[in-house]
Amino acid sequence: MVNTTLELSRRRFLSSSATTSLLAVASLSYPIDPILAKTIKGIQFGAAARASLIVSDPQYRDALLGYCSRLTPEIEFKWDRIEQEQGQFMFGEADQLANFARDHGIEIYGHTLLWHRSLPPWAYENLKVEREWSIVDRYIRQMVGRYDGIRYWDVVNEPIETGYRTDGLRPSIFLDVFGDEYVASALQAARSVSSSAKLLINEYGLEYDLAVEHDRRYHFLKLLERLKHSGVPLDGVGLQAHLDLRKGTVSPASIGSFLKEIANFGLFIFVTELDVTEASYFQTVDERDEQVAAEVSRYLDVVCDFPDIRGVTTWGLTDRYSWLGLSPEEVEAYIRLGYWRDGSSPGLNRGLPLDTDMRPKQFLRSLTSHGIGEKQ
Ligand code: XIL
Repeated sequence: MVNTTLELSRRRFLSSSATTSLLAVASLSYPIDPILAKTIKGIQFGAAARASLIVSDPQYRDALLGYCSRLTPEIEFKWDRIEQEQGQFMFGEADQLANFARDHGIEIYGHTLLWHRSLPPWAYENLKVEREWSIVDRYIRQMVGRYDGIRYWDVVNEPIETGYRTDGLRPSIFLDVFGDEYVASALQAARSVSSSAKLLINEYGLEYDLAVEHDRRYHFLKLLERLKHSGVPLDGVGLQAHLDLRKGTVSPASIGSFLKEIANFGLFIFVTELDVTEASYFQTVDERDEQVAAEVSRYLDVVCDFPDIRGVTTWGLTDRYSWLGLSPEEVEAYIRLGYWRDGSSPGLNRGLPLDTDMRPKQFLRSLTSHGIGEKQ
């Protein structure tokens, strides 16, 4: 059951935005304004979630149930969590999250099968010595087989890194041992277990007009082109979308032409990890929330125009448990400079849809005004 206070404040918030009334007229047959039509597109909303917090914090649990149609395991599906010791699979927390989702009619998004940062140390050593694909293959098959109702899988996470190689592939143990074929092999392994799951590559750093992000977009598109041309089972692209106001504001033109190329490959997109790192903590809370929400809107204006966008997920739901906090040293330095004088919590980044009291912020309004987030 959804916490009543929360549900009420959510309703109050939604009815204060234009979205609810627009959704209500969706079934009428008279022509509607194209801008309004965009808001009734109905893009599913989800958030990254943690099993331990669902157990420990009922408000958090209720907020997830109140807002999300889909949950991404923030850490529970990662290889170094599941198989800390070789061959000893620990599905406890992953199952807990999957069961919670199933019991409440929520979908789980599969994140992530192959990521250089979630490789268990034993697997690294083993790959270095044995050079056996079966080590990777076994893990992929275990996960896709066990969670067989999952519709979307981030099969390879963050394969691009600029400045090392002409093909833009990130130096990693996977690349060292298996060469550039490892991306295709991982996709094929996932496909061999599930003929119906949608398989994605998930990438970050693709939004700004910076030289490094320009290069990332270029190399990412080249990778997609190679995979599509060789008939590898790739269905879609995950755009992490960790927006960052320290980089300026997102570049609609660059994102737009990047997305056009993705559409030409016949791939769908999924916004997988949306959040915003703030540039300045010196302003009032309202000003900060306004800047965060405006950046989200600038981004969504472009991506929600994409003909086949399957969902939008934020990397966390509430600032109470954001992965974007500052370190204690940074907090101290900022306090010396006079930040957080308005009484807001030191060190806290306000880059998620709900605040620490689970109150919706303008971020949420940016989502709903783009047709994202009405539970379906
Ligand atoms: C992060 C989690 O949020 C952290 O709690 C964890 O310690 C490390 O991973 N890109 C990704 C996510 O694809 O899996 C990462 O999640 C954030 C960056």
